[in-house]
Amino acid sequence: MHVELHHITKTFGGLRANDALSLSFAEGRIYALLGENGAGKSTLMKILSGYQPPDSGQILIDGRAVTFETPADALRCGIGMLHQDPLDVPNLTVLDNFMLGRREGLLPKRKAARAALEQHAARLGFHLDPFRYVDSLTIGERQQLEIVRLLSLGARLLILDEPTTGISAEQKQTLFSSLKRLAAQEGMTIILVSHKLEDVAALCEEVYVLRGGKLVGHRHMPTSIDELVTLMFGQSLPPPARRQSALGEEILRAEAVSLTARRLTVRDLWLSVRRGEVIGLAGLDGSGQSDFLRACAGLQPLNGGRILIGGIPIRGKGYAELLRMGVAYAPSGRLEEGLVDGLTLTEHFALARAGGAWINWRAMTALAAEQIGRYNIRGMPHSPVQTLSGGNQQRALIALLPENLRLLLLEDPTRGLDVESTAWVWQQLLARRDQGAAILFTSPDLDEIVTYSDRVLVFCDGRATLVSDLAASTRNPAEQLGELIGGKVYEPR
Ligand SMILES: Nc1ncnc2c1ncn2[C@@H]1O[C@H](COP(=O)(O)OP(=O)(O)OP(=O)(O)O)[C@@H](O)[C@H]1O
Ligand SMILES: [Mg+2]
Repeated sequence: MHVELHHITKTFGGLRANDALSLSFAEGRIYALLGENGAGKSTLMKILSGYQPPDSGQILIDGRAVTFETPADALRCGIGMLHQDPLDVPNLTVLDNFMLGRREGLLPKRKAARAALEQHAARLGFHLDPFRYVDSLTIGERQQLEIVRLLSLGARLLILDEPTTGISAEQKQTLFSSLKRLAAQEGMTIILVSHKLEDVAALCEEVYVLRGGKLVGHRHMPTSIDELVTLMFGQSLPPPARRQSALGEEILRAEAVSLTARRLTVRDLWLSVRRGEVIGLAGLDGSGQSDFLRACAGLQPLNGGRILIGGIPIRGKGYAELLRMGVAYAPSGRLEEGLVDGLTLTEHFALARAGGAWINWRAMTALAAEQIGRYNIRGMPHSPVQTLSGGNQQRALIALLPENLRLLLLEDPTRGLDVESTAWVWQQLLARRDQGAAILFTSPDLDEIVTYSDRVLVFCDGRATLVSDLAASTRNPAEQLGELIGGKVYEPR
């Protein structure tokens, strides 16, 4: 199946999100769509997959013009999209979720559906338990389920919008080898939207680059990462400089903590963190690192042990009280936990900052405008958060963090951000640290952990081990960390 986009234009108010874009996708090939946050990638892919119509321009499949009113129309023509933020229905089992979108009579029996699910999963090398509830799955597993569902519904062109944010290195490898097999052996076309240029280099054969809604480049791989960065931003970036901050008093203490993570129990976790420190929490998806972060925010109970903040045990304190003690938590599921679908940026600042029942909207609009400028968010005070691009939603989440914090708990703080915004967000976070905050963060990106952490807490098999001399290692530190989270025993030197 050969798919062409011809002069696609889409505007939102005065903004040209896509400006006369023409791209072509051949059968059996793997493409990357690159561009900085807000460049127009998701907009274009939503048009190609029937989620929204273009203002003008055409989609051609094997030379024939098609129009899609709905995603189901696109899927009937063989185009399926895996979204940046998961759109599935979490309170169903894997099997029920898989059966969504099937026409009545196509697969009347759960038994047949189950066989189809297992057959498609096996074809891709995925392991999915049909009877688990979707909300107990990791992001990586939910994504596998959605891919299986799209393929079983006949997708021949698969669009993946930032599929590697939030999944483990292991799940990424499984995903990439399945995608390569689908393209090479079954002639599927794959389009990867991503900010991870190493992923693009590992997977893709051709690259399209967007900037400001326009197509600014088309390259065949291999192309150097430097050249791609230059195309995306108009310049290449200097590597981040790392520098430690003066340490203050102990702010966080975990004593013999035991807690239940998604699939295992973490036992006997000890940690002492001082102001001015950055601690990375590393582990395979679901190993307890996010749960520990939530526990420090008073959002998850412990099975045993205790957590103290500034010497005060937090047991029985809710998040609101911890916030008053200078602790803030930012989750990675932007539209699930952090931001409220339907509310504008100004309304978010009012929720986060206004005290009392009476809200000074003029002041809140001014605050929103100021933060939009400071955090370089592409949006307006009155923009509903769901209309922001993924990266701009993440910036909004960071901008919403209160001032004068003592402890920042961040789950995957640069999820979905382009390289430039990632460096920029860390600049903001490290400035907070220099003002005396301690930072605990998780990230599936081991390079990010190695680059920004003073010490790393490695979660593996229910244990949490502190590693402090990674950067001093002569071997590639990220590779070494990868072995540790995969279960290799750590031997202090
Ligand atoms: N429904 C909408 N209403 C208003 N503006 C929108 C809407 N959807 C997208 N935009 C705007 O269009 C521009 C392009 O957004 P898009 O989501 O396509 O960017 P992107 O390249 O996917 O960025 P990211 O890497 O951050 O996900 C952004 O400025 C965004 O705010
Ligand atoms: Mg996007």
